[in-house]
Amino acid sequence: MSFRLREFRPEDLERVIFINRTCLPENYTRGFFLSTYRSFPDLFLVAEVDGVIVGYIMCRIERSIWGLGGARGHVISIAVMPEHRRKGIGTALLREALSRMAERYGVGECFLEVRVSNTPAISLYEKLGFVRKTVLKGYYLDGEDAYLMSKSLSSFAS
Ligand SMILES: CC(C)(COP(=O)(O)OP(=O)(O)OC[C@H]1O[C@@H](n2cnc3c(N)ncnc32)[C@H](O)[C@@H]1OP(=O)(O)O)[C@@H](O)C(=O)NCCC(=O)NCCS
Repeated sequence: MSFRLREFRPEDLERVIFINRTCLPENYTRGFFLSTYRSFPDLFLVAEVDGVIVGYIMCRIERSIWGLGGARGHVISIAVMPEHRRKGIGTALLREALSRMAERYGVGECFLEVRVSNTPAISLYEKLGFVRKTVLKGYYLDGEDAYLMSKSLSSFAS
């Protein structure tokens, strides 16, 4: 099985929304997907197998709050269809997004939130060097806590 990564295109929206709803309880409006794409088109990637999208990652760059610290990359959402998991697609999507954040936007750090029960995702993030920074109590709508995880991007800087 081989897959290929490419940037999201607006005509991919229905398929990405389908994957998001199939894989995650955190769902977003069409407008949110499209406005994130328009702001950071090179940080919204899809993975294709035989021309069919089976996974995506959507990220953005967030400016510092109150002028503290520099801009940081933020992984908003990543998902791979169940039948295509454990084949390295999630790793490839995340690695490519992290490398683009460092090289194209010059950010030194990336962060994300993940459900404390989401062992597969936490394992993926730890494998790529993310560390748990803190617990965000009741972060999700159903009350579950999140880990705030972050990773220095210095190893990706050109
Ligand atoms: C998290 C997710 C994107 C991983 O995608 P993937 O394509 O299966 O990831 P990879 O094949 O690149 O796996 C990389 C590593 O992550 C870890 N991992 C992935 N799935 C795992 C699982 N079910 N259990 C334990 N570790 C797992 C392993 O260390 C794996 O490496 P290995 O296969 O060599 O052991 C996928 O499971 C998914 O879409 N989950 C539902 C959506 C989701 O939870 N998104 C994250 C929200 S924060």
